[in-house]
Amino acid sequence: MIRLGLIGLGAAGQAFLPAIAAHEGVTLAATCDAREGAAEGIAGLEGVPSFTDPADMLAGVTLDAVYVGTPTDLHEDHVTAALDAGLHVLCEKPMAPGVEDCLALAAKAEAAGLALIVGHSHSHDLPIRRMREIILSGDLGAPAILSNTCYSDWVYRPRRPEELRPELGGGVTFRQGAHQFDILSALACAPAVSLRATTYDLDPERPTIGAHNVTIRFANGATGTAIYNGYGWFDSSELTGGVAEWGTAKEPAAPKRPAAAASPEEELRRKQERARTAIADRAPHQPHFGLTLASCERGFLRQSPQGLMLHSAAGRQEIVLPLDRSPRMQVLDEFCDAIAGRPVLHTGAHGAAMTEICEAVLRSAAENREIELLHQGPGNGD
Ligand SMILES: NC(=O)c1ccc[n+]([C@@H]2O[C@H](COP(=O)([O-])OP(=O)(O)OC[C@H]3O[C@@H](n4cnc5c(N)ncnc54)[C@H](O)[C@@H]3O)[C@@H](O)[C@H]2O)c1
Repeated sequence: MIRLGLIGLGAAGQAFLPAIAAHEGVTLAATCDAREGAAEGIAGLEGVPSFTDPADMLAGVTLDAVYVGTPTDLHEDHVTAALDAGLHVLCEKPMAPGVEDCLALAAKAEAAGLALIVGHSHSHDLPIRRMREIILSGDLGAPAILSNTCYSDWVYRPRRPEELRPELGGGVTFRQGAHQFDILSALACAPAVSLRATTYDLDPERPTIGAHNVTIRFANGATGTAIYNGYGWFDSSELTGGVAEWGTAKEPAAPKRPAAAASPEEELRRKQERARTAIADRAPHQPHFGLTLASCERGFLRQSPQGLMLHSAAGRQEIVLPLDRSPRMQVLDEFCDAIAGRPVLHTGAHGAAMTEICEAVLRSAAENREIELLHQGPGNGD
């Protein structure tokens, strides 16, 4: 049983608690959050030691591994502290705001013989993993045109100020693009070589990168397009069978416009309240990240509410996938594999590659040119 310490009891950290409780290979040994009393009232944390300083948790409890779910700009400090303590690490996406920091963390873990993986991201989801397996089998020929399109109200959800600052890993490119680039890379089954992007900051009242349009070229000739728009005019669950990101049913709704101006303190309070229920653990449908389409030489794949649709010379077929393991249980499965020394996709090097793409999107948009990618292989190609 892997004794896990959890740092960061916000939206991402709380979303992991049911999966940790249900997982056969992991047990929650301690939690840590800088907010005094953060663990109070959270189901399942009764009797679990809680700390406010990560150093105290690392020194005070016997652990095998740590989950880092703190704000993105703090990941480097917390991953470093855990590795220095000789512990395996599961780090939230995006791994860190800068590729050099990510590469250093990946190298540090490798030198120490410790597992470092990055998740949850939506390429852990079963439909994406099955689409990748089908593409890797070669039955549909080479992947060609891949796309992920996601529309949400991301910009207007309650946030910490840092979440809107791209230099700290904020804005939709780092926060949401990290899912999209991961999905496209997983489906391309080859390293990305360059990209061209445009980013959009469309609301002067809420400055951030709130939308982007990115085209990635992969070494095998595939291209992947990621469109994200977080300005709330449209919700792409209307394109995904009325199913929301975590697999719950979602009715079409009126456009979500900004709530009345809140003070930073009030916005933080609303964020902390929302964190308790923001991410569903169990749902009647598969999770997804908007509309994912994959055209290959001899066929086509897309997600469906229950799994995926395969269009090929054999006809049109739905592949229904099981719902018994939640997305985060699948992340923990991969973490256990990594700790056991089995090969996994979402390594520290892969996390660094995804951060390189996020950074390159911002550079491409700022400099209005194609950006070459240098840290992408060989993880994606198998
Ligand atoms: N995979 C996903 O679906 C998903 C969803 C949301 C967020 N995230 C990622 O999770 C990370 C956190 O985002 P969030 O929305 O949960 O933020 P959040 O603000 O809700 O949670 C962060 C928590 O970390 C705590 N914290 C801050 N500094 C700390 C410190 N020095 N030591 C210990 N605790 C500290 C805060 O008090 C807070 O409770 C980000 O990297 C984000 O990209 C991933």
